[in-house]
Amino acid sequence: WHFYIIDNDAAKDKILPAIAEFNQPRVTDSSHTILFCIKSPLEDAHLVNLLNQEEKDGRLPSSELKQTQDESRRFFVTKNSKTIESQQSWEGKQTYLALGQLLFAAAAIGVDSTAVEGFDCDKMDEILELKRKGLKSLVIATLGYRSENDGNAHRPKSRLPKEQIFTFL
Ligand SMILES: Cc1cc2nc3c(=O)[nH]c(=O)nc-3n(C[C@H](O)[C@H](O)[C@H](O)COP(=O)(O)O)c2cc1C
Repeated sequence: WHFYIIDNDAAKDKILPAIAEFNQPRVTDSSHTILFCIKSPLEDAHLVNLLNQEEKDGRLPSSELKQTQDESRRFFVTKNSKTIESQQSWEGKQTYLALGQLLFAAAAIGVDSTAVEGFDCDKMDEILELKRKGLKSLVIATLGYRSENDGNAHRPKSRLPKEQIFTFL
C-alpha cells in the first residue's frame, strides 16, 4: 500500500476532477482526504525493501529466519499473482484492512469519516501519474466533523438481523 494525504485546498482541487460530483463536497469539506493505493505491479524491489526493513526492525535475528521469511512471503506473492488482476485483488484486500482500521480509529477519537468508492480510478491515476510511480488508486476515506445538516448522520443505523449474518457451526 501507499497513502496520499490530501490536506490542503490545492491538493483537493487537483484530485477533484476524478471525484464523482455527488462526492465532491465530501472531499472539499474534509480536513483530510486519504487516497489508498496499491503497488502495481508488485515488484521484487518492494519485497527486498520489506525484508530489509524487517531485519532493521529486529524481526529477523538469524539468517535462517530471514531466508524463511523471504521464501514464505514470495510463496504467497506467487500464489496470488497468477494474473495482474488477481495480484491487484489480493493487494486490495490487504489495503482495505487499512481502510477499516482508519475508519475505526477515527471514530474512536471522535472524528467522522466517509469511505468513498465513488471516484474514477483511471482518472485519479492519470492526475497523480500513479502508473509511472508503480501505484494504482483503490479507495478513499474523507475525515472531518459531521455537519449539523448531514441527513445521513441523523438517520438511524441500518443493520441486518444477526441471524442473517452469523452461522454458529
Ligand atoms: C467501501 C465503501 C465505499 C463507500 N463509498 C461511498 C461513496 O462513494 N460516497 C458516499 O457518500 N458514501 C460512501 N460510502 C458510505 C456508505 O454510503 C454509508 O454511508 C456507510 O457505509 C454507512 O456506514 P455506517 O452504517 O457504519 O454509518 C461507502 C462505504 C463503504 C464501506
